[in-house]
Formats: sequence, C-alpha cells, structure tokens
Amino acid sequence: MKMIRNLPSANSFGQTSKVSLTVNGTNVEKEVSVRMLLSDFIRHELGLTGTHVGCEHGICGACTVIIDGKSSRSCTLLAVQADGIDLRTIESVANKDGSLHPIQEAFHECHALQCGYCTPGFIMNIVSEFENNEKIDTTDEGIRELIAGNLCRCTGYANIIEAVRDAAEKLQKKR
Ligand code: FES
Ligand code: FES
Repeated sequence: MKMIRNLPSANSFGQTSKVSLTVNGTNVEKEVSVRMLLSDFIRHELGLTGTHVGCEHGICGACTVIIDGKSSRSCTLLAVQADGIDLRTIESVANKDGSLHPIQEAFHECHALQCGYCTPGFIMNIVSEFENNEKIDTTDEGIRELIAGNLCRCTGYANIIEAVRDAAEKLQKKR
C-alpha cells in the first residue's frame, strides 16, 4: 500500500495543489482540489472511466489500480497523494496491438463476468499478483485468497476462479 503523504489540512476547502505523475506510461501534470479522491481524479480529470467506483470506502475493490507496481484501492487515496507515483489503470492492460492480456482472455473464455462492473478491479488485482509472484497457488483456496479483496454481486465467483486458474497456468508454463 502507498505511503500517505501530502495530506490536506482540515481547513483546506477550495485549495488546489499540483500533482505530477506517470499514467499508463505518460507523464501527467494537473492542478487538483486537495479534497479530490484519486478514483475521481482518474475518472473525471483523466477520463479513464474503466476504473469503477462502488463502495467508495475501501471494501469492494471496484476501484483497484496499480500504483508503483502494487494493487491499490484508488477510493481510499486522495489525488494529491498521487504526486510522483507510477499509476496504471485497466486501460493499460491489453497489449499495444489491441489483443487481450491473458487474464482478460481467460475472463472472456470462462464467462467470468456478467454485468462487468467489478471486472476492471479484479483484473488489476490479478495482474498485480501475477507480476509480483513467481508462482500462483492455483488451488480453489489459493485463488479465493488471491481475489478476496474484490467483490462481485453477479457471478458467484466459480467462473472467476476458473479464469484465474486458466490464466495462471498458461502464464506459468511460459515462465
Ligand atoms: S470503490 Fe474503492 S473499494 Fe469500493
Ligand atoms: S459481474 Fe456484476 S458485479 Fe461482478
């Protein structure tokens, strides 16, 4: 989880602050309200609406992005705390030629989504896990633990577990 920094003071209503960060490989500099959530910044200031917002208090995982290589909930951070970070959103996950990342492909093939609202959050969390762990535990229990921070109201999770296993096994064969 990111270090808390640049927290605004209690009487900072109306104040703005400049943030400079990398977003999906591109440098971005913006003046933001010190009260704005990072999730709102991503959606409304950067126009990257693939990051979804559900509970807005750190429970559902819909707003998950990757910050400095680790999955993080963007609704529990302020935009000003993003100064200097490397931010990746769901828009960066597919390959440059438009082909899907293996976990996106697996979600598609295993029918691991219904309404899709939770999907970007799941994908960002799983991508981060794949990148940070040489080996993924592909037992049901291991995968349930891996996705425990993301809630889905539609699928019942069985197909999501199948998709994670499918993608993890394919990726591990390539390593
Ligand atoms: S919207 Fe961030 S955890 Fe639910
Ligand atoms: S697919 Fe609808 S919330 Fe997960």
